[in-house]
Amino acid sequence: EAEGGRYLLTPALVRDWLPRREAEAHKGRFGHVLLVAGSRGMVGAAVLAARAAALTGAGLVTLAVPRSIQNVAAGFQPEIMTLGLPETGAGTLSRAAREQIEEFLPRASVLALGPGLTTHPETAELVRELLPGVRVPCVLDADGLNAFGGGERETDRNSAGTPVGESLPPGGFREKPDLVLTPHPGEMARLLGLKSAAEVQADRLGVAERTAAAWRCTVVLKGARTLVAEPGKTYINPTGNPGMATGGTGDVLTGVIAGLLAQGLEPGPAAAAAAFLHGRAGDLAAAERGQASLLAGNLLEYLPAAFHELG
Ligand code: APR
Ligand code: MG
Repeated sequence: EAEGGRYLLTPALVRDWLPRREAEAHKGRFGHVLLVAGSRGMVGAAVLAARAAALTGAGLVTLAVPRSIQNVAAGFQPEIMTLGLPETGAGTLSRAAREQIEEFLPRASVLALGPGLTTHPETAELVRELLPGVRVPCVLDADGLNAFGGGERETDRNSAGTPVGESLPPGGFREKPDLVLTPHPGEMARLLGLKSAAEVQADRLGVAERTAAAWRCTVVLKGARTLVAEPGKTYINPTGNPGMATGGTGDVLTGVIAGLLAQGLEPGPAAAAAAFLHGRAGDLAAAERGQASLLAGNLLEYLPAAFHELG
C-alpha cells in the first residue's frame, strides 16, 4: 500500500478512523463547529458547509455570518445555530467581527473559515488578524485562503525552490500543525505565488507534500484524485467524479472535515476521511442523477449513505 509515505485511501482505512458512538454518548463528546462564512451574495456556501458539518456528526454547529443574512441562513436547517456579525457596506464580514468571533471561540472545538466570504479587503484583513490567535483545530478554505494568497505579496523560496510561506501569517501556519488548508489548484497557485493552476497540476504530489512540510499543516489539494498531505504522509483519494465540478461542492467538503475534527480525529485522517466520503457521496449521487445534474446539495443527500456503507 504505502510507497514513500503515500497511501491510497480505502474503505477499510477510512472506517478505522471514523468516530464510534458509544451507548452512553452525549453531544458534548462530538464537539462544536464554529463556521465563519458567507456574504450577501454567497449565503449558499455558508449553508452548505454548515449542513455538511451537522450531517457528519458534529454535536453542535454554529454558523457565523454577516448580520444581514443571519435570518436567511438560519432558515435552511433548524439544527444549526447562527451568529450575526458586523458587516461592511458590501454585506461581507467587517474587521469588527473579530471581537465576537474571539468571544465565541472558547466554546468551539473547531473553527472553519472561508466559504463565501468574498475577497473584500476588510474581510480578508479580518481573516489575517484572526487566524494567528486561534487555538483550536482550523479548516481554512476558499476566500479564507485567498486572504493569504492575493495581492502583491512576496513569495519566499529556499534554494530548492520550495515556498517557505513568508507571506502567510507571521509564525502562524508553521506553528500550527492542526491547520487544514483546502485549496483547489487555483487557490494553491495563489497561495504559493505561482502563475497558474497549471503549474500546480503539473506536479500535484510535489506541491502538496512540499507545502505541508514547509508550513507544517495538512494540505488538501482538491480536484480529480484529491491529495491529502500532512508532513511526511500523503493520502490519495480514489472517489469522486467530474460531476462534482460544480459550485458549492468544495464548501460541503469543508463542512465534512470540520465535522470530523470536532469529533476528535487528527487533521490528516479527518481531511482524508472527509475527501473519501465526500467523493463517495458524489459517486452515489451521480449514479442516480447523472453527472450533469449533480448539485452540491445532492452531496448532502448522499452523505448518509456514504457513511452507512462503511458501517
Ligand atoms: N473529479 C473528482 N472530484 C472533483 C472533480 C473531478 N473531476 N472536480 C471537482 N471535484 C471536487 C474537488 O475535489 C472538490 O472537493 O469537487 C470539489 C470542488 O471544490 P472547489 O473547487 O472548492 O469548488 P467550490 O468551492 O464548489 O467552488 C465555488 O469557491 O473555492 C471557491 O474559487 C472557488 O469560486 C469557487 C467557489
Ligand atoms: Mg471552494
